[in-house]
Amino acid sequence: MKKGIKIGLVELPRLGYYPLAMKKENLGVGCFEPTKKAEQNLLKVLRSGRLTYGPFIQRFEREFAKAHDSKYAVMVNSGTSALRIAFACLKEVEGWKDGDEVLVPTITFVATVNTIISNGLKPVFVDVDPRTYNIDPKEIEEKITKRTRAIVPVHMMGQPCDMTPIMKLAKKYKLKVVEDSCETMFTNYRGKVVGSFGDISCFSTYVAHLIITGVGGLAVTSNPKYAEVLRSLANHGRDNIYISIDDDKNTKGKLFKQIIARRFRFVRPGYSFRVTEFEGAVGCAALDDAPKMMKVRKRNGAYLTQKLKGLERYLQLPWYPDYSGHAFMMYPIVVKDGSGVDKQDLVNYIEERGIETRDLMPLINQPYLKKMYKFKERDYPVAEWINGNGFYIGCHQKMGLPELEYIVGTFNKYFNKLEKSLGMSLTKA
Ligand SMILES: Cc1ncc(COP(=O)(O)O)c(C=O)c1O
Repeated sequence: MKKGIKIGLVELPRLGYYPLAMKKENLGVGCFEPTKKAEQNLLKVLRSGRLTYGPFIQRFEREFAKAHDSKYAVMVNSGTSALRIAFACLKEVEGWKDGDEVLVPTITFVATVNTIISNGLKPVFVDVDPRTYNIDPKEIEEKITKRTRAIVPVHMMGQPCDMTPIMKLAKKYKLKVVEDSCETMFTNYRGKVVGSFGDISCFSTYVAHLIITGVGGLAVTSNPKYAEVLRSLANHGRDNIYISIDDDKNTKGKLFKQIIARRFRFVRPGYSFRVTEFEGAVGCAALDDAPKMMKVRKRNGAYLTQKLKGLERYLQLPWYPDYSGHAFMMYPIVVKDGSGVDKQDLVNYIEERGIETRDLMPLINQPYLKKMYKFKERDYPVAEWINGNGFYIGCHQKMGLPELEYIVGTFNKYFNKLEKSLGMSLTKA
């Protein structure tokens, strides 16, 4: 008999089916690992009594920017806040007007679009590529008008967008690029890391993402002017001469007097998007473990694709070209048209067996967007297909072989049952 799988104190037979609820938290779409390093860093913060913008946030910003081949990072309290100040910064510095247009994909999290709207700009929707679920570069050009100011490639689920044609179009039409990289970190496209293509790139460190700090996000850039404005916007629109309580330390003479005179000056309408040293401390600890996490996620993604291959007549599994990496923040699956599979039935089946799922970020069928923009799903056929047939499961670093085998076993069981009911031969996985 094969060796069993130890789960807490309970040993289960290999490839056996876990009772409902058991291990459910590990088969969720994300995970947080409370490491010793994070614990030590948090204790350091508590003992230092320093909560505001200090050594941990500064280190996290420095190292995160470097890992994404960028000069500056501004840590804020969410990916949404990062996007909010990115568009506000570009609007201010580049002189964009209310109603100017920003191109966004039809599959993304609502925050991408909400932050465009809340900056007084107009999102213009571009359909996505049917294999990658990322903005389709072939669909971009026809959406460009005199009022288009920027393209927002959203690197969905851990997969970089097809950046070469996107950057070519941006150059041709003098458009800015804001990468929404809230779902992707440390991942290359043609040898260049995500976050280093755009004028400003935004990341999220919210739970169920890659690096997790609880709440958190970063706006990353290599443009010093943008960095200055982003930092100010996140701090109530403050004069950048005084952002940290250390900024007047060890200064003398003219500079000291200047800081005293300007440290309570606000130069633009800004926001309170700051984080504390707690988030910075957790972020620094997670950065140390990031290479391992990325390796495990990639391995898990590859394992699922290899083992679910036998179901490809029903399911579209993730695909990415060899010149692109994949962070596998999630594992997306889309039920193929004409396969006879009812997505909801499949989703219910695996959910009942403790495998958490989410819809694949539908956007254009969101009630408020439908009402505002009056678009019809039919105008975006790929998004319509994904909205009706797509879902994702987790493939995070807390999943090991037993969990992956369980996921594969559950899918196979569903399809074996389905094929039996249709009088077909059993699927070999
Ligand atoms: C593509 C995308 N953009 C933006 C965000 C917003 O990030 P946050 O939840 O940190 O505000 C998310 C978060 O899920 C996301 O997936």
